Amino acid sequence: MKQPHILLVVGGGIAAYKACELIRLIRKAGMTVRCVLTDGGAQFITPMTLAALSENEVSTTLWDLKNETEMGHIQLSREADLIVVCPATADLLAKMAAGISDSLATTVLLATDTPVLAVPAMNVRMWQHTATQRNVTRLRGDGVTVIDPDDGAMACGEYGPGRLPEPVAIMERIEAALSFPSRLREGLKGKRVLITAGPTHEPIDPVRYIANRSSGRQGFAIAAAAAQMGAEVHLVAGPVHLPTPPGVTRIDVETARDMAAAVEAALPADIAILVAAVADWRTADAANQKIKKTGGALPALQLAENPDILAGLARDPRRPAVLVGFAAETENVIEHAQAKLARKGCDWIVANDVSGEVMGGADNAVHIVTADGVESWANLPKDQVARKLMEKIADAVR
Ligand code: C5P
Repeated sequence: MKQPHILLVVGGGIAAYKACELIRLIRKAGMTVRCVLTDGGAQFITPMTLAALSENEVSTTLWDLKNETEMGHIQLSREADLIVVCPATADLLAKMAAGISDSLATTVLLATDTPVLAVPAMNVRMWQHTATQRNVTRLRGDGVTVIDPDDGAMACGEYGPGRLPEPVAIMERIEAALSFPSRLREGLKGKRVLITAGPTHEPIDPVRYIANRSSGRQGFAIAAAAAQMGAEVHLVAGPVHLPTPPGVTRIDVETARDMAAAVEAALPADIAILVAAVADWRTADAANQKIKKTGGALPALQLAENPDILAGLARDPRRPAVLVGFAAETENVIEHAQAKLARKGCDWIVANDVSGEVMGGADNAVHIVTADGVESWANLPKDQVARKLMEKIADAVR
């Protein structure tokens, strides 16, 4: 199998010296690497350092006739499996977000559809500036993976977020970015995938509501993975604070009944994955005006049952060929999931134990419960759970 090739864009910050260590780790992992050094980067380290460590040529300018005839700037990014920007300065992030191409590095980044991993490092105030945060949000929305910088003491004498993560941690992110096998990149092409995510809010009165701790992260990660695999993705999202993954059509809803209607409207679908933590109950009659405190008498909340979207979809004549539900449990996880599989009429239940920090957290340990048995996965970051799950679904619909 061909070893992955990395194009490493080294920006102008003191953390550029750590890019040298990163090159060693990339090589040690058996990958090849070629560097693009910005003018700013060349103030901190030399092309010779990068060439010696990468054992490859180093490109520094768009206007180099020899470089352009032997290896044009378009070709530089085409031959790479991943572009890593390290350190990604505030200036580079701003130019990437705006689509400016005024140097070799920024032109390479604009002229590519290769996945990009940006590793920011800068002064804490530059990192926290609204402009930088806006650029990072935009880049993430555009599909660039931007790693959060570490907290700590900085070369400039200040303290806070802005430090380049350790090269070993960056290497882990590179390996994770490359772990999406190319055979899967088109694994769901032509499939329409419907996903629900997040909590629902059930109003009590105009200012209060019933909710739960779901962050939407697992469902959004699944939507992102499905889109990366070429699916047409419709994501019905409860109230969450998450950016829409690239290529995903998002429908925002608030209540369980809104969610049921949005799911209905998004049919037909080949695959449906209902990850949302739908409130089981709503208030029978939400008050039109704010409920006031009345000398000691407590308001009696009458609850009514919400529609079960998953069970409804299982009975629908337009039932998707693959219907997957989630089960968040705090005890007897697998037994409850098996009972739920039968009761709801779906094909698989992805069960997880939410007694710890899963809801709102970054990791998830799940069991895939099907009519054939139970497959238990190790604790993984939610984006890796998403990829593994979508891989399994792609195999099932092939
Ligand atoms: O019954 P329980 O809420 O544990 O079932 C969880 C599964 O059912 C999840 O896939 C969830 O999205 C779905 N569900 C639903 N509508 C409801 C309740 C749960 O679609 N009202």
